[in-house]
Parts: sequence; C-alpha cells; structure tokens
Amino acid sequence: MSTVLVTGVAGFVGFHASNLLLELGYEVIGVDNLNDFYDISLKRARLYALQSKPGFCFHKLDLADRDSLKTALKGREFTYILHLAAQAGVRYSLENPHAYIDSNIAGHLNVLELARHSDSIKHLVYASSSSVYGERESGPFAETDRVRNPVSLYAATKLGGEMMAESYSKLYGIPLTGLRFFTVYGPWGRPDMAYFKFTDAILKNKPITLFAPDEMSRDFTYIDDIVNVLPTILKSPPKSGHEIYNLGNSKPNMLMQLVDVIEVACGRPAEKIIRGKQKGDVTSTYAEVSAAARDFGFDPQTHLEVGIPIFVKWYRKFYGI
Ligand SMILES: NC(=O)c1ccc[n+]([C@@H]2O[C@H](COP(=O)([O-])OP(=O)(O)OC[C@H]3O[C@@H](n4cnc5c(N)ncnc54)[C@H](O)[C@@H]3O)[C@@H](O)[C@H]2O)c1
Repeated sequence: MSTVLVTGVAGFVGFHASNLLLELGYEVIGVDNLNDFYDISLKRARLYALQSKPGFCFHKLDLADRDSLKTALKGREFTYILHLAAQAGVRYSLENPHAYIDSNIAGHLNVLELARHSDSIKHLVYASSSSVYGERESGPFAETDRVRNPVSLYAATKLGGEMMAESYSKLYGIPLTGLRFFTVYGPWGRPDMAYFKFTDAILKNKPITLFAPDEMSRDFTYIDDIVNVLPTILKSPPKSGHEIYNLGNSKPNMLMQLVDVIEVACGRPAEKIIRGKQKGDVTSTYAEVSAAARDFGFDPQTHLEVGIPIFVKWYRKFYGI
C-alpha cells in the first residue's frame, strides 16, 4: 500500500485524515511541531490515538527548520503528501504575525522543496482556506473568482501559499492540489474556534462573547464530509499542473443559528455578550462546490443540527463534563 506524508498530523484535520488513511491500509508518516497555539494535551491525545494503529510513525519537527525535515525524512519514500500543517486562526495573526510567516510561508516552501526533490511523489495536496476570498458582498464563492483582497495576514499567507504552489507546479511539474476549507468543525476540533469556545463556556456556565452576530455567517462544514473525500483527492492528481478546489458545506448559517444549535445540544441557554466586528474577520463565507462534486464526488450532507450534537457529545466525554 502507498505511503502518505501527513504534515500537521496532531492537528484537527490531520488527525482525522490520518485515522481514515490508516483504516484504508495506507502507511502514514506524520510530522508536527506540537506548538502551543492551543492546548497541547489535545494534540498529544490525538497522537496517542494514532500511535496505537499499525502503519503509523511520527516525527516531531518544525517544517520551517529545513535541515531537521531533511534529516528526519532521509531515505523515506512516499507516494503522496497531505500538507495540513499551518499556523491557523485569523485573530491570532494580529498577535503573532511571525508564526504565520514561519509555518505558512517558510514551512510551506520546505514542503514544496521536499516534493521537488522526491522521486516517488505522485501528488502533493495542501490546505488553503476560504479566508483567501476576503470580504465579499455576496456568495457563493467560486474558485474562478478573483482573490486579491485578503483582510488578515493569515489569509495573505494562505493566498501566498497558493501562488507558491502555482509556481512550483510550473517550474518542476509537481502535481499539486490546493483545498480551500470552509470553517471545519467536529469531534477532536480546535479550541480556538467559536463552536468549541461556546460549548466550553456554556457547559461551564460562563458567558459567551459574540462579535457582530447579526451580520456574521459561516459555511460550517462537518469534519467527516471533508475527510471522507481526501483519499479520492490524493489518488486524483490534476492531469497537468496545479488545481484549487473549495471544500465547504455550501449551506451557510448565521452565527446566531450556531449558538441556538449549541444551546440545544448542551441543554441550556447561553449568557451572551454582544460586541462589534473584530479586525481581520470577514462577514460571511459560502462555498461553491460544483468542481469538487464533479471531480471527486464531494457531497457534504451534515447539517449543523446533526454535526454539533456529535461534537458536544465528544466534548463532554473527552473533558468529563
Ligand atoms: N479547521 C478549519 O476550519 C480550517 C479552515 C480553513 C483552512 N484550514 C487549514 O487546514 C489545515 C488544518 O487545520 P486544522 O484545523 O487541523 O488546524 P490545527 O491547528 O488543528 O492543525 C495544524 C497542525 O499543524 C501543526 N503545525 C503548525 N505549524 C507547524 C510547523 N511549522 N511545523 C510542523 N507542524 C506545524 C500544529 O501543531 C497543528 O497540530 C491548516 O492548513 C489550516 O490553515 C482549516
């Protein structure tokens, strides 16, 4: 069976993707620097769960450190790279901009270089983001839309990553696919994201802070809908060059609807503090997904009313609340 190098393996999407790949019989070489952007014990728990499975090995390293990357992977061959490691989060990019350049630009370049010098690689699939679309009047957002207005450094680095991939595909003929994920949520999710923070606060009887809830909407996408299509995408390199696809639910919800669904799942109402829109946040996201449907059979089916209770159930069990 083929070997997949998964970067960001201890992260939310990396963990779920690796789980599925291992179940399907792939070997997974996982790398992650286990940084402290959020609770490291959650990253360690994800890794622990993966380490019990046959076919998995892990290297703790920082992708921005190209010598460590080269040394760790020397002599290893892989058919695919699933590059998910990144400094994620829009708001944190205002606090710690350098982390974004280190991981999403320098780290991304080192992964592209790895593919350039590999004799075995058939496809490099990497994570981009809906944030590249910037502030838009209306949706849905299509891959063919002009994207020139990032409103956060996070978005700028993701857009930069796409441009770097485009140049490497032209220069070296590497088959490359970029995936623009839209607000992915689910069990083992990210503590910095709104659905996680709201659940945590509600279950601990603490208030939640909502930023511009009357304006904000997101195309909330359940983790399994994304992860289940990744093996097909890995096995389907573009006929030539570099392709980009949206992966989103294509049914946006208002922020208030998210809160309503979490309140029901938690069995209690939230105490709400309302604030204005935050710098770097876009008002809405909405994916047009016909290209991913056509090429990979992408067909997201999970509504918030189904996905959020699954998350809340996991959260209660994991944290014993
Ligand atoms: N979850 C979402 O809603 C969402 C939306 C759009 C795009 N994305 C993108 O999808 C990918 C996966 O996101 P996620 O939600 O799993 O995030 P995550 O933060 O849970 O996972 C990223 C992992 O990468 C690791 N990492 C970061 N920088 C690294 C470096 N320099 N070297 C090695 N490891 C490093 C982190 O420790 C983390 O475990 C990211 O590229 C993210 O930008 C996610």
